[in-house]
Amino acid sequence: MRPLLFLVLLVILQVSLLHVNAIPQITAITKLTSDLKITIQGQYFTQKPNQKPLLYWHADFGILPSIEFGRKSNWDSTFGGDLVNSTTPNVVISKGSRSAIRLDHGTKESAILSLVEFNSSQLYVWRRRYDAFSLEKDRAIRTRYINAKALNGYNSTVVTTGMWMTTLDKSIWAQVNYAPAGAAFYSATVGNINNDATVTVQRIQTGTPILFYGENDVQFSTPLINATANEGTGVYFSFNHKVFRLWVEYGVEPINVYMSLDKYGMVEVEHSVDGPFLRSTWMNKIQPAERRWVNEEFQYQSNSVNEIDGKLHFWQDNLRAWNESKRFRFRTTSRPNPFKQVYQTQVSNGAQINSFEYFDSLYIDETWHRVLIGNSSVYSNCTKLELIVPNKWNETTIEGTLRLGEFTDTPLNQLFVYVLDANGVVNRNGFNLAVSNQPTSSGLVVVGTLSNTKRVNSIVSHANQLVSSFAFLIIMFFLIDLQLAVAAVSCWFF
Ligand SMILES: *[C@@H]1O[C@H](CO)[C@@H](O)[C@H](O)[C@H]1NC(C)=O
Ligand SMILES: *[C@@H]1O[C@H](CO)[C@@H](O)[C@H](O)[C@H]1NC(C)=O
Ligand SMILES: *[C@@H]1O[C@H](CO)[C@@H](O)[C@H](O)[C@H]1NC(C)=O
Ligand SMILES: *[C@@H]1O[C@H](CO)[C@@H](O)[C@H](O)[C@H]1NC(C)=O
Ligand SMILES: *[C@@H]1O[C@H](CO)[C@@H](O)[C@H](O)[C@H]1NC(C)=O
Ligand SMILES: *[C@@H]1O[C@H](CO)[C@@H](O)[C@H](O)[C@H]1NC(C)=O
Ligand SMILES: *[C@@H]1O[C@H](CO)[C@@H](O)[C@H](O)[C@H]1NC(C)=O
Ligand SMILES: *[C@@H]1O[C@H](CO)[C@@H](O)[C@H](O)[C@H]1NC(C)=O
Repeated sequence: MRPLLFLVLLVILQVSLLHVNAIPQITAITKLTSDLKITIQGQYFTQKPNQKPLLYWHADFGILPSIEFGRKSNWDSTFGGDLVNSTTPNVVISKGSRSAIRLDHGTKESAILSLVEFNSSQLYVWRRRYDAFSLEKDRAIRTRYINAKALNGYNSTVVTTGMWMTTLDKSIWAQVNYAPAGAAFYSATVGNINNDATVTVQRIQTGTPILFYGENDVQFSTPLINATANEGTGVYFSFNHKVFRLWVEYGVEPINVYMSLDKYGMVEVEHSVDGPFLRSTWMNKIQPAERRWVNEEFQYQSNSVNEIDGKLHFWQDNLRAWNESKRFRFRTTSRPNPFKQVYQTQVSNGAQINSFEYFDSLYIDETWHRVLIGNSSVYSNCTKLELIVPNKWNETTIEGTLRLGEFTDTPLNQLFVYVLDANGVVNRNGFNLAVSNQPTSSGLVVVGTLSNTKRVNSIVSHANQLVSSFAFLIIMFFLIDLQLAVAAVSCWFF
């Protein structure tokens, strides 16, 4: 009886031990076809409740999320951005793609793409984007005004695009880019309002009289409108570029976390007592995506109400922004609801005209499972990661589709596959995507084999398990002895 019990307990412990230590292990890529469908075999991939991601969108499919690759067939709010391709002048298109979405933050305050709703306590987001602007040079320059009066027989008090603005002594001058009611936004490249001296001295403050002239009146001879500047801070300079945002319910429940990457960058949980998590204190001060395509990843987990145990992690091209041990307090007793909506980039208060943001693709899932391709055989050395979009996923088999993107011209034998499990744990050494063969139009089957390094790793990990088993054996003996002692004592009493 006792040896049997011992054996059963040992097996249970062994199994749980294996699960504690298990990291995803790829043993074979059994199929890689010309349409880039791939089958990955191995173990410890962990169960994924939904086989496909919550949402997959790529500009090559148009503006709607792909129902083939993801589960959502539509966005959850108004879509921001225009579909462009290489026939549109001055566009940038990501490598391996034909189209992109772009939005001019200088003319629209809306977010690019759309909010996406989710119900889970975890989230993983992968996206590819490009900023065709400089957060410094392309900032919005604004004065608000009141008391506008028409002068010299002009028939309106409405400031319009192209008009000139000066102070009474004409020492500060600017040209109006656009003018929503009661405000004028100015060009950063015409006039002197963007000069450092102006920025420092802030000479157009609340109460300063200002004058507006017609577009052709380049001598500033006949003002058409006069007004009083009413901008509390003086000339207002701003490029309020939020690069990521989680909400509970936009516009209703103002609990959100947002992130920015400018020189004042931060992660800020609004309405929190914890204060901003400033970019200046991050492990890696991730740079804005200025005139470069970046792949960015976010991994989120809600917190226990009031506890600082929530997770948010951010990587740009596999560069981790802050320490794994960083935790956040997103929800509190007074605001206990977890986030339900995720937004991509958005700008408030304008920017210079032609400040285009581009998006190539977006992948969102409710768990942290994912499959990535990297350009190094060691995960942490990869400086670029691209996605494999899964459509089947169990402990031992993943089927999906490669998005080569950045790696479009990279030989497959320089690329390595990584599986991240439910906990975001990855196989440290990647599995080579192709040993010698490129996919062919005939739908060639490429068979990968366990490489020597993989064998060494697996031997090491078996050795570890063996050592751990001995430790457990000793503990088991100890526990059983304890049990026997307890039994003996009980017998003695009863
Ligand atoms: C490129 O964009 C133009 C203008 O929107 C459109 O007419 C054309 O069909 C697009 N071409 C491709 C290949 O998508
Ligand atoms: C979230 O839950 C609501 C209510 O059960 C449901 O209508 C909605 O489809 C769910 N959304 C997602 C993204 O699963
Ligand atoms: C003011 O005058 C301009 C040209 O002098 C004319 O185009 C415009 O319609 C007029 N606006 C109003 C509100 O009368
Ligand atoms: C605009 O000009 C008129 C006429 O010169 C003057 O009475 C008024 O005070 C000026 N308003 C502002 C805001 O400077
Ligand atoms: C991450 O945080 C842990 C715990 O605070 C600390 O021991 C470790 O040095 C940090 N690592 C880095 C790279 O900052
Ligand atoms: C990975 O790709 C980046 C960008 O293309 C390149 O700079 C880097 O050298 C590559 N690294 C390896 C190990 O191939
Ligand atoms: C990974 O990076 C480390 C540290 O830079 C380096 O020592 C190692 O050789 C790299 N390994 C591979 C496979 O690129
Ligand atoms: C996983 O899926 C594959 C292919 O559908 C199947 O052959 C295998 O038995 C499944 N494994 C488990 C553990 O469910």
